[in-house]
Amino acid sequence: MLFGKKKSVAGLDVGSSSVKVVELDGKMNNLTLINLGFENLPDETVVDGQIMELNAVAETIQIVCNDSSVKAPKVVTGVSGHSVIIKNIVLPAMSREELEESIDWHAEEHIPYDLSEVSLDYHVTDEDVDATSVMIAACKKERLNNIKQAIQLSGKQPIVIDVDTFALQNCYEVNYQPDPDTVVTLLNIGASTMNVNIVKGNQSLFTRDMTIGGSQFTDILQKNLGFSYQQAEAVKRGVPEAMDNVDETAIEPLISNVTEMVAMEIQKTFDFYRATSDNDDIKVEKILISGGGSKMAGLREELAKKLEIPVEVLDPFRQINVDPKKFDPDYLSEIMPEMAVAVGLALRGVEAK
Ligand SMILES: Nc1ncnc2c1ncn2[C@@H]1O[C@H](COP(=O)(O)OP(=O)(O)OP(=O)(O)O)[C@@H](O)[C@H]1O
Ligand SMILES: [Mg+2]
Repeated sequence: MLFGKKKSVAGLDVGSSSVKVVELDGKMNNLTLINLGFENLPDETVVDGQIMELNAVAETIQIVCNDSSVKAPKVVTGVSGHSVIIKNIVLPAMSREELEESIDWHAEEHIPYDLSEVSLDYHVTDEDVDATSVMIAACKKERLNNIKQAIQLSGKQPIVIDVDTFALQNCYEVNYQPDPDTVVTLLNIGASTMNVNIVKGNQSLFTRDMTIGGSQFTDILQKNLGFSYQQAEAVKRGVPEAMDNVDETAIEPLISNVTEMVAMEIQKTFDFYRATSDNDDIKVEKILISGGGSKMAGLREELAKKLEIPVEVLDPFRQINVDPKKFDPDYLSEIMPEMAVAVGLALRGVEAK
């Protein structure tokens, strides 16, 4: 570019409970955090992954970008949940032209929606003389249009729509630079969706999104103890003032019910993965956990115990330069789990610049 700096592209994560934005600068191996924002969404604006209140979400995007000084006009965003289908399929060996021509036909049987309802993307993951391994990703067009509309209403331009679980993987790859044989499970627990991605080196072996997350803990406290949403959220987070007059012995079993459910879903995913993959010698070394839901007190320890595997918090800024004078290290480490997907999206933005 002749005049001025090339405009950066921000990562914008529109979750079901909050909007996160991250702007990075520099090259892939020397990145600096320049802006970061986090703003809660009004309750019920995003339900089941669907934005119900476009204007409210657009307004929150504007607020989060203004408050954090994100000026980038272009953003990368992500989708997750049941509108997104990801499958690893193995096809006979074929040329790229043959694959391009036949991909719809091959993908059709793996996608539970009519092909006219989805946008389909694919990526060759492995190839030899006998077979072509392909990862297919499909997302319902109405879901894509929904998120695009909200972002455009806010005045930003969505240039790439990624999948949250791959943004998370990108965040992991850049920050951890894994050996090709290292197998870990990336686990992002949001408010309503939990993303599991089993990765070997830089390759995703298996992904699954489940409709379970931090809001289950809030719901159960609301329903069983008659709390309001705000009260249940505060009690769940252990906010001291909220704990006055609260019978902790009534809370504990409710919370551990949900924790158990979360652990069971992850266990089922591991079992399913083992049953459907022919790489049964692959052992998952650890779980790298992220998402606000992973901050639930005792959850990490409980998962490690139940699944018999170490659980570590994923650090999305591990390889990113962060000026402690600009970003308070205590605040950053507190919101680190929530920022993982947004950092992954921002990394895609650096590539797309
Ligand atoms: N300290 C805490 N203790 C327990 N739960 C917490 C804490 N902080 C945040 N949470 C929970 O984390 C969840 C929000 O996490 P996150 O921001 O990752 O979700 P999201 O991206 O908005 O949602 P999703 O990805 O499911 O659409 C909420 O359920 C919130 O109550
Ligand atoms: Mg999220």
